[in-house]
Amino acid sequence: MAETDFPRGSWGWVIRRTQWSALGLSEEDFAKPKIAVVNTSSSMSICYGQLDEISKHVQHGIRAAGGFPFEIHTVAPSEALFACEGQGDALATARSAIVQDIELMVRGSGLQGMVLLSSCDSTTPAHLRAAVRLDIPSIVVPCGYQTGIGGQSTTNLYDAYEGFGAYLSGKSKFEEIDVLARNAVGSPGVCPGMATASTMHVICESLGITLPGASPISGGSAKLKRYAKSAGARAVELVHENVTARQIITKESFLNSIMVAVAVGGSTSAVTFLEEVAVDIGLDLNTRHEMERCDGKIPMLLQDIIPNGSLQIEEFEAAGGTQGIMKQLSDRLETNVLTVGGGTLRNQLDAAALPNEAVIRTLENPVDNLPGIVIMNGDVAPGGAFLRPFTSNNRKGLKGRAKCLEGLDNAIDALRSNQIKSGDILVMHGLSNEFASLLYGAGLHDVAVISDSSIIGMGRGPILISEVRPRFDEGGPISMIKSGDIIDIDIENRQIRHLT
Ligand code: FES
Repeated sequence: MAETDFPRGSWGWVIRRTQWSALGLSEEDFAKPKIAVVNTSSSMSICYGQLDEISKHVQHGIRAAGGFPFEIHTVAPSEALFACEGQGDALATARSAIVQDIELMVRGSGLQGMVLLSSCDSTTPAHLRAAVRLDIPSIVVPCGYQTGIGGQSTTNLYDAYEGFGAYLSGKSKFEEIDVLARNAVGSPGVCPGMATASTMHVICESLGITLPGASPISGGSAKLKRYAKSAGARAVELVHENVTARQIITKESFLNSIMVAVAVGGSTSAVTFLEEVAVDIGLDLNTRHEMERCDGKIPMLLQDIIPNGSLQIEEFEAAGGTQGIMKQLSDRLETNVLTVGGGTLRNQLDAAALPNEAVIRTLENPVDNLPGIVIMNGDVAPGGAFLRPFTSNNRKGLKGRAKCLEGLDNAIDALRSNQIKSGDILVMHGLSNEFASLLYGAGLHDVAVISDSSIIGMGRGPILISEVRPRFDEGGPISMIKSGDIIDIDIENRQIRHLT
């Protein structure tokens, strides 16, 4: 076990007593493992609305197991609020700031373990990065998804975002979007469905850095509180066992998580976040190449969870969640890897209940042999691009005329003035994140979007191709496309071609 206190009579021993005795720590407390409860939250976003409460349950668990908790706060960006301020580019900086906050506070205070409360999109990858950089015993607690108004999401964030597209295109009145916007969110937690934050939560569980059963869980549920308490208690045990983050997050567990992301048809932004973690751990891993390797090997196993279909994420939780997906995939996973729950992934999956196969399908009877994420290539994207084929009804492709749009404002103007027509291939430069939802709401399901930027994890309807490489700014082939050129998107052959 790591040292929990400085030697009696040393300078560090004296300093800690001056600081912590005044805070009420007893001599017994000084000898306990000291665990950071990383509460990445802010009162500005509903993604974080439950975290202060969850933090208390984690702290109860730590105390009950013989540890001592210290709560730490960090920068806490909201993906949605940053995006509407045109600050999407600042999110990478915010992730680095979270990593720095954690490193400074935990290392600077000599704490022995961490429980990380992960919620909105950028928080989870930042927490993973901090865990591998500090390499101390660490558990991530994914803090759950939000529900809509009416429990099973009768009205939710999709309705509001897509409703704005309907309003912009003249298909609905202001009063309708006003009602949707005010009633879209019924409980705290991350955006509903297999959007980016929930995909990151699933990835964490498949890395083994959460207790089993961590995702998905409703953010407003008692189940999450009980889960948080268990995670706190387990963090103390991990310190005693000296099981550190890098023993859990390895190349093998990384590859497992990529396969799981493909099998659930997860958000492609989450995959990009994984690349940041790989850099921090010093792994020689190209996630695009690894995803290509999944093509033909990992089919789509998760049935119809929005935006890949119309079922709510509650159905995924009820069917068995990430453990259920991993159990179905176990023949393809490296199961001889450690998890923070104790033992190997094999032990964990042996103990997991059989999933409901109507929602979590088997390898022999998948939703489709097409993977939930594919890498597209071709002369427009020689460095690859992401596509989530199940977010669109059109899984064959589209050949049509390009319409080039410069940034979100330009794209919204084009939508408002009915310049976007069925069959168009929208080539977007700059942040285009939310635009996919607006197209869907406007009824433009039979168009395609090609962008060198990320596309909102809630996007559905059009064919959505994101993060084309090389980028516009790098002078990539995407920058050579002019409005009116013919583009051929051939999903079957994973090609995007610039024909004229
Ligand atoms: Fe925070 Fe979607 S805006 S999870």
